[in-house]
This record gives sequence, C-alpha cells and structure tokens, in this order.
Amino acid sequence: MSAFYLTTPIYYVNAAPHLGHAYTTIVADAMARWRRLRGDRVWFLTGTDEHGDKISQAAAKAGVTPQAFADRNSGAFRETWRRLGITNDDFIRTTEARHTAVVQAILQRLWDAGEIYLGTYGGHYCFGCERFYTEKEIVGGNCPDHRTPLTWIEEENYFFRMSKYQGWLIEHVERHPDMIRPERYRNEILGFLRDPLQDLSISRPRRRLEWGIPLPFDDHYVTYVWFDALINYVSALDWPDGEKFRTFWPVAQHLIAKDILKPHAIYWPCMLKAAGLDVYRHLNVHGYWNVGGGKMSKSIGNVVEALALADTYGNDAFRYFVMREMTFGLDADFTEEALVGRLNAELANDLGNLVSRATTLIVNGGGLRRVPAEDELGEPERTIRSRGTTVVPDVDADMAEFAFQRALGRIWELVRLLNGYVDLTKPWELAKRQDRRLDVTLYTLGESLRFLGVVLAPFIPAAAAKIRAALGDTGQPSLGAATWGTLPAGTPVQKLSGLFPRVEDAKTSARREAASARRSAPAAHPTGASAHPTGASAHPTGHEAEATGRVSKDEFARLDLRVAEVLAAEAVPKSRKLLRLTVSLGTEQRTVVAGIAGDYAPADLVGKKVVIVANLEPVTLMGVESRGMILVGSASEGRLAVLTLDRDLPPGARVT
Ligand code: MSP
Repeated sequence: MSAFYLTTPIYYVNAAPHLGHAYTTIVADAMARWRRLRGDRVWFLTGTDEHGDKISQAAAKAGVTPQAFADRNSGAFRETWRRLGITNDDFIRTTEARHTAVVQAILQRLWDAGEIYLGTYGGHYCFGCERFYTEKEIVGGNCPDHRTPLTWIEEENYFFRMSKYQGWLIEHVERHPDMIRPERYRNEILGFLRDPLQDLSISRPRRRLEWGIPLPFDDHYVTYVWFDALINYVSALDWPDGEKFRTFWPVAQHLIAKDILKPHAIYWPCMLKAAGLDVYRHLNVHGYWNVGGGKMSKSIGNVVEALALADTYGNDAFRYFVMREMTFGLDADFTEEALVGRLNAELANDLGNLVSRATTLIVNGGGLRRVPAEDELGEPERTIRSRGTTVVPDVDADMAEFAFQRALGRIWELVRLLNGYVDLTKPWELAKRQDRRLDVTLYTLGESLRFLGVVLAPFIPAAAAKIRAALGDTGQPSLGAATWGTLPAGTPVQKLSGLFPRVEDAKTSARREAASARRSAPAAHPTGASAHPTGASAHPTGHEAEATGRVSKDEFARLDLRVAEVLAAEAVPKSRKLLRLTVSLGTEQRTVVAGIAGDYAPADLVGKKVVIVANLEPVTLMGVESRGMILVGSASEGRLAVLTLDRDLPPGARVT
C-alpha cells in the first residue's frame, strides 16, 4: 500500500469561497478519491490562512476582532467543502496552537543555525499582496497583480538567507524534472532563478501589524504571513515526531494555481532545506479560471459562487464540468452556457442515456442470466472488454499527471462506444427473436456499467454510487473490483433513469418565456397549450378545433391509450422530423413513428415511459410502418414535450 499526501493552498479568510477555490479543492478531492480507490493510504489536507495585513484590515472594516472574523470565514470554507462533498482528512487553520507551535519551533531552529539575521530593508510594498516588489516586477509604479500604487516602506526586519540557496535550488529543480509541473511552470521558475535571488524578509514590526505569530526570538515582530502559511503543510502532519509526518512527508504533493507559484517553488524549498527537511515531491500547478474573458476577482464583482452553481446543477455536474473543461495547467473560461452544454450532451445524453438504456434492456431482457463463454464473444464484445480493461491503467496514468480532462475524455470514449454497441446489437430485437446472443449483449452491458460505476467514482461520486447500486453494489468502490468478467450471473439489476436530467439552457428558456408571454395576450388561444397525439401524421392541424370542439365520453373511450416503454429510438433516414421508436406494451413490441426529431435526440427517449394511442390504423411514413402515436404536448410556439408518467406503471397499462 503506498502512501499519498496531497495539499491544497490554505485559503485566505478575507474572501468567501468561490469557483477558483472550489476548482482546486474539487480536483484535489477527485485525486484523493482516485488514490483511495487504488487502495493507497491517503492524507488530503486543506485549510485556511488567517494571519497578516489583509485579514486584519478586513476584520477592522467588518468591525470585529481578527480572530472572530477568521472563525466565521474559516467556517464558511469548511461548510462549503462539506456541501460539495469534499473528503479532506484534515482542515488546518493557521491560528491553531498546533500550527503556531511548529512555526515558532522552525523559526527558532533557523535563528539558532544563523539562517536568519536582522537587517534594514526599503522597498515598494503592496498591502494587498503583503509583499515587496522589485523594480523589475513593478508595472508603471503599480502592483503587477492589483494594479494599485505601491507604498515605499523602510524598516528593520528579520531576513531569511534565501539567496545562499539559489545554486542548490537550481540544481534541485534541474535534477528533478517532475518537481514542478506542468513543464511551463518549471521553465518559469528556472527563468526567474537566472536573476540573483534576494534574501526574504520574514517579519513585520508589531507596531504596524499585530495579527500574526510572534517571532520566538524577538517579540517586537510577528512572522510574515507567507513564512507562517507555508509551514502548515508540515505542522498538520505533527512535525517533527508525528507518525503522519514520517509516513506522508516523503511523498508530499502540493496543488496550487499559478498565482502562488513563487512562494511554493522558491521560498518553500529553501525554507525546507535550511530547516533540514526534505523537499516535497511535486508541485502541481493549474491555471486560472476567467469569467467573461477577464480575471475573476472579488473586486471586479464577477466572482462565481461555487455553492450557488453546485446547488443549481448538482455537485456531480459541477465537478464534472470544471474537471472536463479546464486543461490542467492552462487557463479556462467559465460560462454557465458551457456548463449546461456539457451537462446536456455528456452527462444527460451520453452517460445518463447509456445507463438508462442498459439497465432497462437488462431488466426487460430477463436479467444477467449467465457469464458468456469466451467463444461467444464477437468482435464488438472483445473491443469493449479490451477498452474496459485498459481504461483503468490509462486513467491511472492520466491521474498521475493530474490530467483530469484527459482521464474523463478517455472514460467518455468508452461511454460512447457502449452507446454505439447498443445501437449495433439492438438487444430488443434479439429479445423478440429469443436469440441466444441476448445474454452475451446484456452481460457485456452489465459488466461495462459495473466498470463505469467504479472508475467514475472519484469524478462524479453520487452518480457513480447510483450506477453501482443499480447493480446491487452498495459498498465502497475499489479498483480491485475492476476485473473484467467477474460480475456474477444473476446479479440483481434495477432500472436507473434520469441520472442527469437535461437542463434547458438559459437562452432557450428566455425564448420560451417570451413566447409564453405572447401567448397569454388576450387574442391568443384560450388554452395556450394542448396535448395531442403526434407521429403517424405528424402534428394534427387546427388547434382551435381541438381546443373548442366537444367529444362525447363514448367517443373518447374508443381511443385505446396505453403506457409504452421506449426500448430503442433512431432517426428515420432522410427525414428531419421523424424518429422510429421501438416500444414495449408489455405483451408486445411495436414500431411507432413520431415527428419529434426537432426536439428530441433518439437517446433522450430510451427508457422513458410514454403514452400511445394503440388502436390507430397503421400508416407508413418514409417507408416505415407506424402502429400507434405517442402523445406529445405542444404550445403554439416553443418546443414539444413528450407526455411521461409521474409515477411508475408497467408497460401496457391503460390510460383513461
Ligand atoms: N493564502 C494563500 C495561499 C497560502 S498556501 C500556503 C492564498 N490564498 S487564496 O485564498 O488567495 O487562494 C489562492 C488559490 O485559490 C489559488 O492558488 C487557487 O488554488 C485558488 N484560486 C483562486 N482564484 C482562482 C482562479 N480564478 N482560478 C483558479 N484558481 C484560483 O493565496
């Protein structure tokens, strides 16, 4: 069992948690879950950074003490992570005694070793960043990050002799090509190290700043917030003697965004070296989320609130989107439209429909009756088995590089392959012919779902658990279970539909609202919307006649309306409007042609229970004989809606 230690940055408590913080914490969570799935011993740390100017100023503005302010906002981070289902093993706060004691012990050690000296420093200081900027970094007299004027400050301070580690650090980075990754950030640091490294001011005079950890050797000063904060990564492991420190520090990996590359890639390794600790193994650096093409920041007021989005679309959909959309290491743009697009196309359509089709077919086809013999497997089954078997080591390799987007892309190739497999093998036809190949197909689908329920667990944990539960597995997922062909015959399977309901995008709903406002104007139809059969003859014309004309009870009773379960759906070739549906009425299967292709993708319908008019004269449309019509609601403008049931009924049930 190998050990795995992963940290997120500890977040400043002066801002509420937002998309940027959520991204880092979510990918860390997915990584921790992946490692647990492999059977590794995992320690996943996050927390809050609570000292320094920024916090003290924000607390003063809020009219509370820094401690009360930190308590409240640190709680907001913890609560956010709880609601997002984050599985951190520990949460460290820099105001905790376990942390301050370690910071002081390390400072004392460095002071005793002559690594720290008292000196005078004058420099351009940014209060927002809490750091001095060199002439080279300043942009037009302003802070390169905040774009606000810098303040010239001169004061006596304690300095860490960082400059003496420059040669050592360059060599260390060069000798460990994967220490800082992706490579672009390693190159950035090597580029930076071409210029002479300055010593680091590690104290702030107490007359200017009270809110910090006092230096153990001079209590007129508090510790510079970065020197304090970085130490959280070892104080949380109970340095120096803790069992956790011994187990996890040798395999430490940090996860950050590019904004805090320098403190992590330069200050921290030098601090560790000077204090006699090993350097961490990897620094994994991701890019920035932009909103509307610009930087996301509280001051610009476009911060996307993590919780609001996850509440609207669900934790799994939110996690999936951020991991699939951002190429780890590069910047990405966040838009709600892109989230909805991926949710509909990849989660609802590709995955949700696969799960619903496969579980429906398995249940209707008599379950997983037997494990197929090797010689029963055809080319398609072999392809699926080989993709299913290789997906685990492939995703593992992607995850080792923090390539979440690649891992998900790979899993979705399998999902699409499986949807294609259902289209190709048409299990509902095999069932009709009582073909022995049905068992092979259903087993292949069942086994594939089981695999998906495991490999998807780190990324979309709730949906993956539902998939596993549909196959009777309610235990902890494990990669050990991902051995192809070990799903026992007779495993109970339950139908699972609506895993990810489709979301209408904001633009569509705005259009619909506008249309509905127009309809409710006095001159419009009295009912606004009507439910009517469609399909064999597409839309009946004359809405007015339908809305006002009277029908006797007897006339209505002549219609044989039935619940029908959609087993398969495909486009009618050369038609833009028509879909060919194979439906089950319990005792029989039928083909029904419906004019709904403009509003439904075939995969949207599979697994749905709909209502059909079962006693219509058959008609032939574009060469396909239709035996029934499905009921569809429509408004005079806007999209059609297929009528479904709000409670389950068996196929064939009468609708009266
Ligand atoms: N307290 C320091 C870190 C100390 S670690 C020893 C800090 N805190 S922070 O609250 O500003 O968090 C910065 C981190 O939040 C980034 O490194 C990143 O993980 C995350 N993000 C904040 N905004 C972000 C984006 N717009 N995009 C992506 N991630 C960003 O710095």
